[in-house]
Amino acid sequence: MQLPKPGTIEIAPSLLSADFSCLAEEVADVEKSGVKIIHLDIMDGHFVPNITIGPPVIASLRKTSDLCFDAHLMISQPQKYIKDFAKAGANHITFHIEAEGDPRETISMIESFGCSAGICIKPATNPEEVLEIASLCRMILVMTVEPGFGGQVFREKCAEKCIFLRETLGKDVRIEVDGGINETTAGKAGELGADTLVAGSAVFGSKNRQEAVEKISASAKKR
Ligand code: DX5
Ligand code: ZN
Repeated sequence: MQLPKPGTIEIAPSLLSADFSCLAEEVADVEKSGVKIIHLDIMDGHFVPNITIGPPVIASLRKTSDLCFDAHLMISQPQKYIKDFAKAGANHITFHIEAEGDPRETISMIESFGCSAGICIKPATNPEEVLEIASLCRMILVMTVEPGFGGQVFREKCAEKCIFLRETLGKDVRIEVDGGINETTAGKAGELGADTLVAGSAVFGSKNRQEAVEKISASAKKR
């Protein structure tokens, strides 16, 4: 259930585009395609203008799945809720550098509950802002759309931040991209250095999720 070690390309379907009336079945369906990670988008209606799910939903899903739960906290006060998300069953917890609280403290808190930590940057944020704390994280999340909604268009300029991060941080940290990833844009993201690709609408919007995951993965590996 831990985040896979660096060195592989992983597709992380985002549950945001799944059918919320049957989430356990949706998770089980993508699990069949061999993915190791499921991306869980947590929004508080404050940090972003949308509200999604909280710890009770994650705790329910935890009983039905062995996937690595990658919780992407798009919330203003991450420190206030880390314990709840960890106890609910999150394995990897990502918070935004733009959110409240001292990032080092937030990372220690995440690790104190047995989870790995990730830091995320929005499209307008310079990757240099996370350099100091990046080595404390297992994965850096680069938003390739403005956080808040699924189904937006991939911004290549944002993905270009992966080049700088990869060159500066080396191979021991995962670099995740999130937003607008599909079988076409995945190739570009892979080429720029991303190794973990979140895909919401491109996976859950497809009838055949297995095929969708395979196509995105093949495209990312072509780099
Ligand atoms: C957006 C979320 C994404 C979203 C991606 O704020 O962080 O994870 O689900 O959706 P797609 O893949 O449809 O752009
Ligand atoms: Zn996300």
